Amino acid sequence: MPLPFEISLDLALGGPGAIPKSSYDAALKEAGAALAWLKTQKLELFDIVDRTDDIAAAQAVADQWKDNSSDIAVLGIGGSSLGGQALKAIAKAGHKPRVTFHDNPDPWSWQQSMAGFDLKTTRFIVISKSGGTAETLFQAITAADAIEKAGGGKYLKHHFAAITEPKKSVLADFADSMGAPKLDHPLGIGGRYSVLSMVGVLPALLMDLDVVKLRAGARAVRDSVLNAPSVAHATPAAGAALHHALAKEGKLTHTVMWNYADRLKTLAAWWQQLWAESLGKDGKGTSPIGAVGPVDQHSQLQLFRDGPNDALYTVIAPDTKGQGLAAPADRSRALGLDYLVGKTMGDLIAAEAKASAETLSRNRRPVRQIRLPVIDEYSIGALMMHFMLETILMGRLMGVDPFDQPGVEESKVLTRKYLAE
Ligand code: PA5
Repeated sequence: MPLPFEISLDLALGGPGAIPKSSYDAALKEAGAALAWLKTQKLELFDIVDRTDDIAAAQAVADQWKDNSSDIAVLGIGGSSLGGQALKAIAKAGHKPRVTFHDNPDPWSWQQSMAGFDLKTTRFIVISKSGGTAETLFQAITAADAIEKAGGGKYLKHHFAAITEPKKSVLADFADSMGAPKLDHPLGIGGRYSVLSMVGVLPALLMDLDVVKLRAGARAVRDSVLNAPSVAHATPAAGAALHHALAKEGKLTHTVMWNYADRLKTLAAWWQQLWAESLGKDGKGTSPIGAVGPVDQHSQLQLFRDGPNDALYTVIAPDTKGQGLAAPADRSRALGLDYLVGKTMGDLIAAEAKASAETLSRNRRPVRQIRLPVIDEYSIGALMMHFMLETILMGRLMGVDPFDQPGVEESKVLTRKYLAE
């Protein structure tokens, strides 16, 4: 299957801010070794995109809820929420039931959300790989309590589904205590790598997204990486090499994902967690920054252009030319906006994405450009697999374990300690 994006390294390797060829070539050689290592790994992430049995299990739950629910509230935090949120951004508006994500247990927000739910017709998907995350469990038990107090105690099992590892945990006990369905969180896939599993699939089905297409996009990237004729053709390896070359030159404390579409805003949030939590270890790491369309030309661009030259810029631009409303010709002329005559809003966005990439490059900043002709399940699945593999390869190049998260675990332990005091 073809890749749904085109990556250009022209401005990163050839523009005024070019990474020296010798540095890139050396990094690419190391990335080749990292890629060879990756190919030997039996990653469940590679296999999940071929599976269909788990989609059938999720579909069974979705079918039960689809027509008799007003709201689906997805409870989970970090990797148990951000992927679903990124998928929600590409779902068509107005799908029923409403699907909302509740990651931050802000007391005000949660109370507001609970007050807004019709407790007879709201279902809760509780997602926690470990099954023991306090934030998520707090939301789940307060929701169960509210339903019980509203007289729905007998029907609790129809209001909840849990996605957690198939083993004993608080969340598994919670689901069992009411007889609610439990769906398996894959044992071999970590939270921030789990979007293509049940974690993303069940919410996606309820948002009318095509999860087969999502996995097909991811599969296309997996296959292109595993069968790449050279390391430079494996796009995640080339991306990791770019980062690595800059890091070796002492020019990488940040990496920026700048997306020219509102529908890719939450993709950047998902990627920020993936990159930060996977690679920020042992005194190493780079801070991921998300930016969106023209908005950040009026916000962060000044810093990007003239601040410390210590970042790689990845500009993701969908093909927007000719899309959206056209500028009314007479009004445009009357106001002296002749440059807008015959242009659509999509033309404006396309020009701005190009302008930002060139502004950065002319000011000696390394820029990678990703052209994304279409934003849909296939292309998002592909981008997600691309960035997950790029992160894993980067971990290998940096000599850190991209799969653990000791910082997160420490804060979980301390939170429980302080609550018990
Ligand atoms: O990616 C990770 O591993 C973390 O961000 C987890 O997703 C997050 O801590 C939530 O953990 P759990 O899914 O166990 O509730």
